[in-house]
Amino acid sequence: MSSKLIFADRMSRVGTETAFEVVAMAKEMEKKGVDIVHLEIGEPDFDTPNHIKNEAVKALKEGFTHYTAAPGIQELRESIASHLEEKFGADINPNNEVLVMPGAKPGLFTGILSIIDPGDEVIMQNPSFPIYESVVRLVNGKPIPIQLREENDFRLNPEDVRREISEKTKMIILNSPHNPCGSSLLKKEVKELAEIARENDLWIMSDEIYSDIIYDEEHHSMLSEPEMKERTILIHGFSKSYAMTGWRLGYAIGNPEIISRMTKLQININSCATAFIQKAAIKALNGPQDCVVEMVGEYKRRRDAIVKGLNRIEGFDCKTPTGAFYVFPNIKKLGMKSRDLMQYLLNDAHVAALHGDAFGIYGTGYMRFSYATSLENIIEGIERVKKTVEKI
Ligand SMILES: Cc1ncc(COP(=O)(O)O)c(C=O)c1O
Repeated sequence: MSSKLIFADRMSRVGTETAFEVVAMAKEMEKKGVDIVHLEIGEPDFDTPNHIKNEAVKALKEGFTHYTAAPGIQELRESIASHLEEKFGADINPNNEVLVMPGAKPGLFTGILSIIDPGDEVIMQNPSFPIYESVVRLVNGKPIPIQLREENDFRLNPEDVRREISEKTKMIILNSPHNPCGSSLLKKEVKELAEIARENDLWIMSDEIYSDIIYDEEHHSMLSEPEMKERTILIHGFSKSYAMTGWRLGYAIGNPEIISRMTKLQININSCATAFIQKAAIKALNGPQDCVVEMVGEYKRRRDAIVKGLNRIEGFDCKTPTGAFYVFPNIKKLGMKSRDLMQYLLNDAHVAALHGDAFGIYGTGYMRFSYATSLENIIEGIERVKKTVEKI
């Protein structure tokens, strides 16, 4: 007799993030006393700034320990709206165009669930953050991968997007600055992509979570483009900008119709984001911003060190990223598969990094190293990688 203790078919379509698996492998080795250099984790090593932590403690003591309004505390929604208005020049109504959630990920999840029906095509960068493809597959949508070419500095070419548009295309997912490639779209490319969306009546999900972590140029938001607010879901949050990954707080911006549907899903999943964390987030946005500037300055120093170091290793070819805190070197000359190199570096060099194909088919032949770690770790990690690679 067949058992009914089986799982829903949709579970076979959900993926995960390899980063969490590699971290688990590395932690297992650490338990056995192996000293690992972590270059796999996509989270700031900085502590959350003190003024934000103190605000959370204060809010806890003051009794912000209950449910809040489902889309978030009004004062936080107002702070988010004015913060983005200042940064992107976008006119956002805090009453019905902002949704505060426990992280940026719930914004991706509820946004895709609210829009994508079975068979709908979703154009996305490849390589990319693996959650986009996973959630689109979960709802039986069809991911349409567009290769980010190294020759184009890993920036999405709008013409490639235009070629893939069909009757079934419903959404384009963008991520700039980009995980894992560290690239960022130029203003003219954002404009062209906006035009494509308007011409073809498409949604854009624009994941701009790394928009504060950009080095030599300015970030160009999809929300700054005319008439784009009505068809864009902007995803942003506190994890990366303020070193708050473990706090779980992010937000989505969109037109009132999409925000009300995403809020409905939020009510079904987690009611609202944690009350005292929302209070601390108000402080993060309205308090001093020099902590962000200092962290970005330090990331830039680390970026320069890791790019220089990797390019000194034979078989590695590393472009200089313009944003986020990842490098994506080409390792094709080593003649080794990315996944094998990941395992080899972990076992032999005791350096944890991610293989490029963890981010999609076009990531084959590349590795992702995160430089959200100390300069000492980066220097030690590169030294170890160099010694290990020389043995190949
Ligand atoms: C591109 C991108 N979007 C979203 C997230 C998730 O952010 P959060 O921690 O706020 O859920 C990440 C985290 O690594 C990311 O790299």
